[in-house]
Amino acid sequence: MHKLTYSQVTPKADFLNRRQLMAGVAGLGLAPVFAGHASAKTLEFTKSEYKVDAQTTPQEAATTYNNYYEYGTGKGDPAKYADVLTTDPWSVEIGGLVNNPGNFALEDILKDVTMEERIYRFRCVEAWSMVVPWIGFQLSDLIAKADPMGDAKFVAFETLHRPDEMPGIGWNSRFPWPYVEGLRLDEAMHPLTLMATGMYGEELPNQNGAPLRLVVPWKYGFKSIKSIVKITLTDKEPPTTWNRIADREYGFYSNVNPEVDHPRWSQASERPIGAGLFAGRIPTLKFNGYEEDVAGLYAGMDLRKNF
Ligand code: MTE
Repeated sequence: MHKLTYSQVTPKADFLNRRQLMAGVAGLGLAPVFAGHASAKTLEFTKSEYKVDAQTTPQEAATTYNNYYEYGTGKGDPAKYADVLTTDPWSVEIGGLVNNPGNFALEDILKDVTMEERIYRFRCVEAWSMVVPWIGFQLSDLIAKADPMGDAKFVAFETLHRPDEMPGIGWNSRFPWPYVEGLRLDEAMHPLTLMATGMYGEELPNQNGAPLRLVVPWKYGFKSIKSIVKITLTDKEPPTTWNRIADREYGFYSNVNPEVDHPRWSQASERPIGAGLFAGRIPTLKFNGYEEDVAGLYAGMDLRKNF
């Protein structure tokens, strides 16, 4: 039976309850894990093979040091301001070059997918990094259900645009809202590409992109778009927010690459957040450590040009 990874943050009474629950479901042949704070809603999921051999970032650091410009540009702003976002009800419009388009309630999407915990490295283009236990499902499951047409080559993603619940939209009104991102279809279908609804055994906090965000662990963090409301299959490379803002600095692919520096700083190393005052920088790995899994997607491409 799996161990309760986060039991140290769980009050004892809760912990005992979960053990009873686990005993109850064990007979069904499932291996779910129940974990989390007493305050946040906990999730049911199974552990997966996907984990890295590195210290997990403290939950406190991963949920208070964020980039979510819809809530301001300061690292502490999202944790301060994102509480106002209404994440329930939530639906995702799936369309474009698919045979099964529609506007799907998130709860219906979640009925049909396998929820797993996956511990991934996460590397921001700003050269800080985390190791996060995400909970989510493979994007490939969702795309397969949408049934892409033969000419679909790319997947475009869009974040919610709700200025009255996103004060950063007004504070930064020249930013090209809504936040948009994209992947090539084969990248989107790759088994590592995750749609996350939780982290650290709990539902995603709003500042981390609740209720549904993308996680592409071999790419710089800005590809991992938060609070997704729209997914569109297309035959053309879709525009992406940071590429629109500074195309010399942020390419469409944005695969983590220690050999290609950002025009204004080195990408050779990174600062693990929450690792303590005296923790040093660590070397950045090609494709963020996922080279074996994903390098084949880029065979024949010049990774220096297609950054
Ligand atoms: N998604 C939206 N909608 N808005 C954003 O500002 N920031 C991106 C990405 N997704 C961003 C976003 C960037 S730059 C990073 S590094 C990650 O979210 C940060 O995710 P985290 O706050 O969960 O660490």
